[in-house]
Amino acid sequence: MVNKLEQLKKEAIKKIKDIKDLDALQILEKKYLGRKGELTAILRGIANLNIDDKKKIGSLSNEIKNEIKENFLKIKNIIESKGTDDSFIDVSLPGPIMARGHIHPLSKMIDDLDDLFSKMGFMVLDGPELESDYYNFSALNIPADHPARDMQDTFYIDYKNQANRQTKKINTEQKKDAFDMVMRTHTSPMQVRAMQKYGAPLRCVVPGRVFRNEATDATHDTTFDQLEGLMIGENISLANLSAVLKEVLKRLFDEELEVRIRPGYFPFVEPGLEFDVACTICKGAKCPACKHTGWLEMIGAGMVHPEVLKYGGIDPDKYSGFAFGIGLTRLAMMKHKIDDIRLFNSGDMKFLEQF
Ligand code: FA5
Repeated sequence: MVNKLEQLKKEAIKKIKDIKDLDALQILEKKYLGRKGELTAILRGIANLNIDDKKKIGSLSNEIKNEIKENFLKIKNIIESKGTDDSFIDVSLPGPIMARGHIHPLSKMIDDLDDLFSKMGFMVLDGPELESDYYNFSALNIPADHPARDMQDTFYIDYKNQANRQTKKINTEQKKDAFDMVMRTHTSPMQVRAMQKYGAPLRCVVPGRVFRNEATDATHDTTFDQLEGLMIGENISLANLSAVLKEVLKRLFDEELEVRIRPGYFPFVEPGLEFDVACTICKGAKCPACKHTGWLEMIGAGMVHPEVLKYGGIDPDKYSGFAFGIGLTRLAMMKHKIDDIRLFNSGDMKFLEQF
């Protein structure tokens, strides 16, 4: 009987190892451990044994039964876990779909303008957003205490006072020049920086973010993009300015833009001009986006002031030049017919996904 039991164990364990699915496992389990199974049949013979053999064979058959059961359980776990086993991944299945980003409408507008101006021979430059008071104002013919400083509400950087506060060494002299850094209020500081670096003749554009401490509405934000343009050479005139801007706007917009030019005051140009664009949202019929005027102030421009040329190290008797500052975010508003400028920097995915 002992031999029979050992033989059965050997055979069962060998067969269990070859099992590939749960159905086959169930059949085999029934064959060995079921009520009418082979082990049960052997155990039935125990009744005819003497007490000592009964005990011996009884405990051996229990051990064997448990061992066979364990082997069944092991193979069952293996079969059931195959779904998550790497070796069973179907590599031919398509992967999860990844959301793809796309370029922001402002970045696209900057790229397009960089491209257009490059083709017209303009360099594309980059300038600091944290700018000195000198380049943002003084070198643009706006000395301290000049009322024109109030034209743009400025974020002053109080970094010297902060350092002084930390060291507790504030004196009157230090207080006086504490506010000598600003978040640039326009891209115009790059005019003098470019003149100083490259001299004349010169053609460059400078796209970038600017900052103003002002109340926001549909056409005003505290952070927006401008694109500065500067062309310096001999005999440069307003006719060149007009031709360049008209060409760029024509190529940038798919539709014909109606533009009006009027005099404008900026201390760093003489004469100064402002370009307004007829509102593309209401087509001049007057709407909240254009503050019911039918027009949007879009570009400040003019002939570079001789004093500014001098700050840039350029001889105003030999050279002249034009400069302009396009309100890029407003231009994007008009291109995409968006009625609130604040949406561009809102980070609102519902807004951005439409582009
Ligand atoms: C300037 O910033 C001058 N630096 C432009 C210039 C350059 C004049 C070179 C002459 C020569 P202004 O403050 O008008 O000018 O701003 C220029 C353009 O920026 C405006 O026409 C408008 O389109 C846009 N802009 C001005 N303020 C805001 C604002 N708060 N939010 C959004 N866009 C604005």
